[in-house]
Amino acid sequence: MIKEKVLVTSALPYANGPIHLGHLSGAYLPADIYVRYKRLNGDDIIFICGSDEHGVPITISADKEKVSPQVIIDRYHEANKKAFERFGMSFDNYSRTSLPIHHETAKEFFLEFYNRGLLSERKSLQFFDEKANMFLPDRYVEGTCPRCGNNEARSDECENCGSLYDPSELKNPKSKISGGTPTLKETTHYYFPLGKYQPALEKYVNEMNEKYGWKDNVLQYCRGWFKDGLKDRAITRDLDWGIKVPVEGAAGKVIYVWFEAVLGYISSAKELSQQRNQPELWKKYWFDPKTKYIAFIGKDNVVFHTIIFPAILMAWNEPGREQYCLPQNVPANEFLNFEGKKFSKSRNWGIDVEDFLNLFPADLLRYTLAANLPENRDTDFYWKEFQLRNNSELADIFGNLINRTFTFVHKHFEGKVPPRNKIEKIDEDMIELANSYPQKIADLLENFKVKDSVLEIMNLARAGNKYFNDSEPWKTIKSDKDKCGTTINICLNTIYTLAELFYPIIPLSVERLFKMLNTGPINWNDSGKENLKVGHKLNDAEILFPKIEDDVIEKQIEKLKGSNMNEVTSEELITIDDFMKVQLKVAEVISADRVEKSEKLLKLKIALENEERQIVAGIAKSYAPEDLVGKKVIIVANLKPAKLMGLESKGMILALETEPGKHEIITVNSKTKAGSRAK
Ligand code: MF3
Ligand code: ZN
Repeated sequence: MIKEKVLVTSALPYANGPIHLGHLSGAYLPADIYVRYKRLNGDDIIFICGSDEHGVPITISADKEKVSPQVIIDRYHEANKKAFERFGMSFDNYSRTSLPIHHETAKEFFLEFYNRGLLSERKSLQFFDEKANMFLPDRYVEGTCPRCGNNEARSDECENCGSLYDPSELKNPKSKISGGTPTLKETTHYYFPLGKYQPALEKYVNEMNEKYGWKDNVLQYCRGWFKDGLKDRAITRDLDWGIKVPVEGAAGKVIYVWFEAVLGYISSAKELSQQRNQPELWKKYWFDPKTKYIAFIGKDNVVFHTIIFPAILMAWNEPGREQYCLPQNVPANEFLNFEGKKFSKSRNWGIDVEDFLNLFPADLLRYTLAANLPENRDTDFYWKEFQLRNNSELADIFGNLINRTFTFVHKHFEGKVPPRNKIEKIDEDMIELANSYPQKIADLLENFKVKDSVLEIMNLARAGNKYFNDSEPWKTIKSDKDKCGTTINICLNTIYTLAELFYPIIPLSVERLFKMLNTGPINWNDSGKENLKVGHKLNDAEILFPKIEDDVIEKQIEKLKGSNMNEVTSEELITIDDFMKVQLKVAEVISADRVEKSEKLLKLKIALENEERQIVAGIAKSYAPEDLVGKKVIIVANLKPAKLMGLESKGMILALETEPGKHEIITVNSKTKAGSRAK
């Protein structure tokens, strides 16, 4: 493959709290795996991140603890930097937006636009807290969303439906500082002409998608925004924490955090240049039109990376001056939940990265998270799954292949790679399979299918074990030593291939494996070949993946019982009217069939009163079709029809998830009339 110049960024996390497993799954681990793979591939790459230290999230945390924002950012910048290190994140630089180099960069952009007359000064009405005598930033005001009715909407943005609106449209506003009703007061802000860039942005998104294939979820967000029409946006705020607006008459105003945080990707690269004593280094990446720039983020950051940041860069990129490169792809992930529910610091639901790493080696977490990344939909971290993936995949498959092969080579071949003197069909097949893997995994990773790549690599380890079993070296060692040596040679070389392929995912364990193999990584593309030469001396084996005992996991599950998850937040409260919108009805299952090519789905025909319809339900792992016929179940009768694997589904059956992937449908007395409504 041709060497590429690559710039990779991961979203700058707010330095207002410890990072949790959800953050890692969203924007960090997938980026790190991609970067480590690219490095092995010989690509020229830098990996940039840092703490986002301005904005209201920081001041809110500071207010809560009654300390200055500086105390908060210092604490969490250090803590998160360390947690990332322990987790094995291989950033080239982890910067922070409070550094002078960042302030200068942000001011430079602001002034460039200001001096060019691009920014307009406009008066608007903003919420003002009379008691606290201050303008209230978005997150200090809570009210009801004018679009979707969410009760925890911010002054100009609703996280629930993703819409932006004018503060005057928010219903029932409340100040989070005094609890009172804020008034609207006039203030002046600088606006960035986002609307003007809409045609260019649409072209950009479409072109990138055509060339590089953007993820559906990301495209859909973008299209939604374009459809609503981009509006000019204020890029200043009335706040005293942040980067001061560098023009006269703007006292008390700072640059809007999202305008400057994204520029942190540039200032962090500049800081890296200083550290490496190569002042021009950052330009080599940022100003090269051939740079492949990939921005890893979580789904809540999409608009800022596919619309706002590109617009800022486009505005800078006037003809005749240096041109910043725009993201070529923005592989945003969905969210990771924890044991079936959202992570919640306040309710003690979840686990900090620090705490986790005090209990288990980072690689076990990296492997479990990587095998279960929320690439296309939200996924969950379960302690049981964590244990299972360690014990039955890392230990029983990969670890087993290593142990049995090393035991053999030390016992029968003096710890040296034996020759391949007797190649038969079974050996050829194994050699060929291992040989095909680097390209296969590269194709997946180039397309950000990190999760699939993990599952596939483990499949190669599975194939290695099967090859070992089928070759029966414990027999051939007595009957045909040449044959046995061939088997062991191929197993060792397959382990080498696996070491390389697993390196981006579980780097710390693979470092140890390389020591055992008495070698190191090579170029990715060569890693499927016969790299361990005949006679190469191996070191002693050690156990890389000890089993995790049940009681260790039980203890963690036990701890969760102390959390206050049953409390309902105001955000979660619904009205009786909300509830009554859901039509719950009793239905009788008339027939049930498996859905071809699906392990999970059953196709049901159900009867309501005077009506039959088809529902496709994901319960095939818990019920055989014949178990269901004649049962009276409860369905959501007014769910929008959907298609699952091409089959129409009208409604949803209520079921409990008793353990991951296992369901128990809710049934009612067989005499209850189909069609009766549950309220
Ligand atoms: N701090 C933001 C968050 O945690 C992400 C900022 S990403 C950047 O959601 F683009 F601004 F850097
Ligand atoms: Zn809303």
